[in-house]
Amino acid sequence: MCGIIGIVGKAPVAERLVESLKRLEYRGYDSAGVAGVVGSGVERRRAKGKIKALEEVLTAEPLTATTGIGHTRWATHGAPNVANAHPHSAGRVTLVHNGIIENFAELKAELAAAGRTFESDTDTEVIAHLIDAELATGLAPIDAFKATLDRLTGAYALAVLIEGAENLVLGARRGSPLVVGEGQGEMFLGSDALAVGPFTNRVIYLDEGDYVALDHDGARIFDASGAAVTRPVRVVPTSAVMMEKGNYRHFMEKEIHDQPEGCQRTIAAYVDALTSRTAIPGDVDWAKLERIQIVACGTSYIAGVVGKYLIEQLADLPVDVEIASEFRYRQPALRPGALVVAMSQSGETADTLAALRYCKAKGMKSAVVVNATESTMAREVDVVWPIHCGPEIGVASTKAFTAQVSVLTAIAVAAAKARGTIDAAEEQRLVKVLLEAPRLIAEAIHLEGAIKEIAADVAKARDVLYLGRGPMSALALEGALKLKEISYIHAEGYAAGELKHGPIALVDDKTPIVILAPHDSWFEKSASNMSEVMARGGQVIFITDTEGVKHAPEGAKVVVTAPASDPLVSTLVMSAPIQLLAYHVAVIKGADVDQPRNLAKSVTVE
Ligand code: G6P
Repeated sequence: MCGIIGIVGKAPVAERLVESLKRLEYRGYDSAGVAGVVGSGVERRRAKGKIKALEEVLTAEPLTATTGIGHTRWATHGAPNVANAHPHSAGRVTLVHNGIIENFAELKAELAAAGRTFESDTDTEVIAHLIDAELATGLAPIDAFKATLDRLTGAYALAVLIEGAENLVLGARRGSPLVVGEGQGEMFLGSDALAVGPFTNRVIYLDEGDYVALDHDGARIFDASGAAVTRPVRVVPTSAVMMEKGNYRHFMEKEIHDQPEGCQRTIAAYVDALTSRTAIPGDVDWAKLERIQIVACGTSYIAGVVGKYLIEQLADLPVDVEIASEFRYRQPALRPGALVVAMSQSGETADTLAALRYCKAKGMKSAVVVNATESTMAREVDVVWPIHCGPEIGVASTKAFTAQVSVLTAIAVAAAKARGTIDAAEEQRLVKVLLEAPRLIAEAIHLEGAIKEIAADVAKARDVLYLGRGPMSALALEGALKLKEISYIHAEGYAAGELKHGPIALVDDKTPIVILAPHDSWFEKSASNMSEVMARGGQVIFITDTEGVKHAPEGAKVVVTAPASDPLVSTLVMSAPIQLLAYHVAVIKGADVDQPRNLAKSVTVE
C-alpha cells in the first residue's frame, strides 16, 4: 500500500516522481521512496515519515535517473521504517507495490529455502525475489514478470524496474487500480489518474488482470492470459481528475469496482497483517465494555446491523442498532458503561449527529465509523474509526458500506479476543480470512456480465422481494434499498423466516425474488424458503456461492454463484452482486444513477 508512480522519461525524473507522490498524499502514508535506473544499476532513496523527509534525502544524494518509480507506503506488513519502505530490491529487480500478497509467507519460505535473504518484513519483497529468480533462468523481463504474477494470490498493483533494461517500467494490476499516462515520448504509470495528472491528460485505465511494459515507444498491454490487447485512451480534464469516473459510466459503477481496494485499505488500518492480529486504534476496553449502541441512517444503519450479527456472535457483547431519527426522540434507556458508535459516511447526517450527542450527554463514551474525517461527528467523538475507501460521490452508498462492514468485522474479532471468546490462534485465522476478502470481492465483481442479463428481466418488474437469513437478512435490506433508491422499483428486504408472516402474499409469477444464501449455517433454511416461493410460482434469483450451488434446490430461474467465503466475510463478498443488480436495472431504466430523484448524499436536516 499505497500510492504508485512510474515514469519512463527523457529528462531526470526524481523531481517529477516526488511531485506525483505529493498528489497521492491524500491516500495516507507513513514512508516514501523512489528508485531510478542509473547506468547499469538501479538506485533507491527512501525515508520514513513525510515526503519532505524524502526530499531531504534526495537533496543530500540526488538521483539522476531518467526512468524511475516512486511510492508512498501505508504500513501493512511491518513497521513504518526505512527498511520496510518501498521500493524493494532483489538482485536485478526493484519494485513498488500497492496491495496485499496473501501467499507471501509460503513464497518467502520457498525463496529462503533456495538461499535468498530478505531485508524487510514486507510481503512486497518476495515479489522482487520471484521476478529476479525467473530472470536468472534466462527469461526476458516481461516473461519473468508474467511468470511471477501467475504465482501471486491477492489484490495488488505493481511498478517494476529491471537492471540492464534501461527505459523500461513494468506494471500490473489485480484488484488495485493502475493507469497508464501517455506523454510526448514519455510514458507514465500511476495508482490513479491523479498520480499522472501533472504530466499528461491522456490516460489508459488498465483492466483487471492486465500487465504492461512501458518504454519510449509506448505501452504494450497484455491481459491476464498473456494476450496482447489494446485499451482505449481517454482524455481527462486535469481539473476533474480527482472526481474522474475512469472507464465507468457512473460514479456508482466506479465505486462498486473500487471496493476491493477500499476494503483492503480499510482492513489494513485495523489489523497487523504481519502477525495476523487485530489492531483497533483508540482507547476502548473491549473486555470491560458492557454494551455497544450503534446509531445511523440509511445504508450506514444496515452496515451497523451486519456488525451486530458479527460482534454478538463472536464476542458475546450485546449490540443495539437503531435508526438515529427514532433513537433521538424516544428517550432510550442508556447506561454510561456502554459505547455509542455512530456509523456515517459523511459524518454530518443530522439525525445521527443528534443521537450521538444525546448519548454523550448521558455520559457514554463515543466513537464514529466515518469516511469524512474532518466532519462534525469526527470532531466530537472520543474515538474516530476512519474508513479508507476514498471519497464516495454516488448518492447510493456502495464502497462506504463495505468499508464500514470491514471496520466492524475487525472490531468483532478484536473484541472477541479481548473478551476471551476466541483464542489467539482463532484471532489469527479470522484476520487472515479478513485479509482475503478484497480478492474475493474482486472475484464477485466479475459476475457483472451475468448480473447484467438478470437486470434486463428485473427492470420489467413492479415489485422485487429480497430475502436472507443471519447477516444476509441485513444484506436483503440493503439490496432492496439500493434497487428502490436508483431504479424506483418498489422493493422489500425481509428476514427470510418472516416470509410466511406476510411477504409470501406478494409472491406471483411476475415478482422476482432475490434470495441471498451463501453456504453458511442458515443455508438449508434459506433453500427451503426458495422451495416455498417456487411452489407459488415465484421467479427466484438465487445468489449463492460455489459451495451452496452444489446443494441448491432445482428450479431457480437464475443462480448466481459468488466465490465461497468464510461466514465472517460473506456479507462483504455478497454485496457486489446486489449492488451491481440495482445498478444495471437503473441503467436499463435510464435513471439518473448518481443523483436519484429526491435523494441527497448527505442529509444535514432532520
Ligand atoms: C443519505 C444517503 C445514503 C446514506 C444515508 C446516511 O440517505 O443517500 O446513501 O446511507 O444518507 O448517510 P451517512 O453519511 O450518515 O452515512
